[in-house]
Amino acid sequence: MCLSTSSAEDLLQRFECARCHQAPGILKAPVREKSCVSCHQDILGGKLDGKYQGKAMARWKKNIHSLTAVPGLVGLEKRFRRDWVADFLLRPHSIRPGLPASMPRLKITREEADAIAMLLVPTEDNTPVTLGSAEEGRKAFTRYGCASCHQFSGLTKPIDPQPMEPQAKDPRSKSASYTVEAVRLAPDLRFTRERMSSAAVLRWLKNPQEINPGTMMPVFALSAAERADLAAFILRESIEPIQRTPFRFSHVPVTRKVSYKEVSEKVFRKVCWHCHSDPKPARGDGGPGNTGGFGYEGAGLDLGSYEAILRGKRLADGTYQSVIAKDDSGLPLIIRHMLARHEEVAAEYRAKSADTAREEILGMPLGLPPIASEDIGLVLDWIEQGVPRGE
Ligand code: HEC
Ligand code: HEC
Ligand code: HEC
Ligand code: HEC
Repeated sequence: MCLSTSSAEDLLQRFECARCHQAPGILKAPVREKSCVSCHQDILGGKLDGKYQGKAMARWKKNIHSLTAVPGLVGLEKRFRRDWVADFLLRPHSIRPGLPASMPRLKITREEADAIAMLLVPTEDNTPVTLGSAEEGRKAFTRYGCASCHQFSGLTKPIDPQPMEPQAKDPRSKSASYTVEAVRLAPDLRFTRERMSSAAVLRWLKNPQEINPGTMMPVFALSAAERADLAAFILRESIEPIQRTPFRFSHVPVTRKVSYKEVSEKVFRKVCWHCHSDPKPARGDGGPGNTGGFGYEGAGLDLGSYEAILRGKRLADGTYQSVIAKDDSGLPLIIRHMLARHEEVAAEYRAKSADTAREEILGMPLGLPPIASEDIGLVLDWIEQGVPRGE
């Protein structure tokens, strides 16, 4: 089955890609109230207007860490393989070690992922090219200071942990704030061989800004031979499979009393509430996890108050189901979802197969760093102590 381009555009709307990504000509920028990334950026950059000003601002600035930078979806047809884009939408995983957030898992079918990939990568360049020497490429990688931004994890023979400054001809690379941002957005190069064809890597190294004008990757004055060597190093150097150390949750109950205030401050209000909130004050939008978003219908789960947490998630018939009662697994649903996020990250999350991706339990917080085991343990203690309200 093949979906048409116009329905692919509808899919981008439905999955709300624009709440995080910019892609001029493809995505329409959403209003600030909807845009996770630009609202966070505006707060950090001091650009929020009148009604948001006040002493809360200083606290907000201190508290915002995730979704402050994301890659732009620009020039994708000159960079990525179409199949890789579709697979990534079905089974996203972390690519950039510098970003706390990764691409969220979506409730997407193979047909929908293929249609979006076709829209973002309408043509592919698989022109056969000749690569150079990986050994020379390794030397060039050190000489130009590529490792000052990029990690290249899993190399059988690792790169120098103390990289040189970037030797770019790009004037931007002299600014310290630019470098911080560029490091955050630099991909781990172990995934490049899955994402890019050899022709695409060579073209990218020649001039990344010609492909993505807003890119943080600086322009280097590389000769054709150096580009061929670097591409050989990036695409062919031997790498080890990702270590899949299974996550183990070890929980030693605390002996003191755990109050609602404590679990709310450490977990629910700190993180979950941003996607599971009370829809009334926010004009009907209770976040993707409550009233829906990112293509999810919403689980009808508000995690912003004591009463709402006890009420649980709303079922199709309008009744509620507890998320704190222990289920067949012996754990409350809410704990299982938080543990699942650790499992996703520990395994460099790729669903076992694209076909089961939609059935596997969704790690929470969706696409964000896992909640520390210790804090998950506190929530479990709080539940086992009978959800005391505290003072
Ligand atoms: C909640 C925010 C969010 C939403 C919504 C979202 N993304 Fe992403 N996406 C990210 C983040 C963060 C990354 C970077 C992940 C990384 O590099 O580890 C990313 C990475 C990507 C990449 C890889 C780009 C690259 O240069 O590595 C593609 C392609 C992508 N997203 C497409 C989409 C599409 C298409 C949609 C809508 C169907 C979408 N995203 C929705 C946050 C989001
Ligand atoms: C209107 C502006 C605005 C929008 C839109 C917005 N946020 Fe936030 N976000 C904030 C503020 C302000 C904070 C800090 C709150 C605090 O200090 O208690 C925050 C904090 C967070 C946090 C906790 C801190 C962190 O960085 O991990 C998460 C998670 C989060 N937001 C996720 C989201 C997601 C996901 C979206 C989109 C669905 C979103 N936000 C949309 C303003 C916004
Ligand atoms: C100042 C930081 C910085 C330096 C130094 C740097 N890069 Fe990059 N590089 C980036 C960023 C940021 C991206 C992601 C670009 C984007 O999404 O627009 C990137 C992307 C890439 C990609 C695409 C990889 C992928 O999987 O998408 C390759 C290949 C690459 N860089 C190679 C190099 C090489 C080789 C050097 C040294 C000659 C180098 N980079 C130096 C920041 C840097
Ligand atoms: C970035 C947004 C986001 C954040 C942050 C987030 N969630 Fe979710 N949550 C979702 C979405 C989306 C769903 C799926 C809604 C659906 O099925 O329609 C969901 C579903 C759930 C469910 C499953 C309900 C069911 O139907 O079985 C639980 C439990 C849950 N979240 C708990 C949490 C907890 C606990 C946290 C904080 C540690 C959290 N979430 C943080 C977006 C988020």
